[in-house]
Amino acid sequence: VTGAAGGQGVAVCKRFVEEGASVLATDIDERALEQLVESLGVGDKGGQLETIQADVASEEEIQAVVAQSVSRFGGLDILYNNAAVRVADRDAPTAALDVEIWDITFAINARGAFLFCKHALPQLLLTRDGVIINVSSVAGYRGDTECHAYSATKGALIALTMSLAQTYGPQGVRVLALCPGFIATSMVSGYLDDAALRDEIVGATALRRIGEPADIANVAAFLASCDAGFMTSVIVPVHGGLVK
Ligand SMILES: NC(=O)c1ccc[n+]([C@@H]2O[C@H](COP(=O)([O-])OP(=O)(O)OC[C@H]3O[C@@H](n4cnc5c(N)ncnc54)[C@H](O)[C@@H]3O)[C@@H](O)[C@H]2O)c1
Repeated sequence: VTGAAGGQGVAVCKRFVEEGASVLATDIDERALEQLVESLGVGDKGGQLETIQADVASEEEIQAVVAQSVSRFGGLDILYNNAAVRVADRDAPTAALDVEIWDITFAINARGAFLFCKHALPQLLLTRDGVIINVSSVAGYRGDTECHAYSATKGALIALTMSLAQTYGPQGVRVLALCPGFIATSMVSGYLDDAALRDEIVGATALRRIGEPADIANVAAFLASCDAGFMTSVIVPVHGGLVK
């Protein structure tokens, strides 16, 4: 699980451990990874969690993460590609967008996810039922009026997901794009801490609430499981009926 120390990453790690998985949690934020370990309950299905600090902008560090998964757990069955940034206040509509912000956002959200797929695939192919879940966004298929760099990276992840699914499906690898709507994490706190904006988002959501990280973790657990064994090459929106 990449971006494992963030709002959704923590929920996904906890859920996967509860399900009995051996989870290698990686994030750039070492202190937050320590907090994740401290907050972890004891499961009864034999799940376990280890952490490794790594920057997804570094190919070398990504290779080290995959190598640790193999050395500690004997392989890699599920890649949960979740690390991302949305450069608040600097991401912007195209005419006002600095190329530097475009490049940083692509280096982490798109290049980082691609490199994780590239280096995890040899292991996933060995299992013959490997799974890649690329965390995209509603903004990845619908666009975003404000954050053009962020939404373009998320669109790139959807296209990569479909390509991977078509190429590696015959060898048993399933690849899915999970697309959250508004989920209460620090990534969107700028919107959610503003009462008027929050009300607007809730009003545009059929279920009339903001999503919780557990809403994503529940779907992630299903997609990663054998119960979703005939699902691949699809976009899975988890947005509570966000219509605008
Ligand atoms: N929260 C939302 O409303 C929302 C909506 C749509 C999609 N998403 C997507 O969900 C995923 C999880 O985001 P979140 O909501 O938990 O946000 P978050 O900001 O809480 O978590 C993101 C995590 O990624 C890590 N990260 C950032 N740069 C990194 C790097 N270079 N190397 C390694 N780790 C790095 C951060 O340290 C953080 O722990 C992201 O892919 C995000 O784009 C979120």
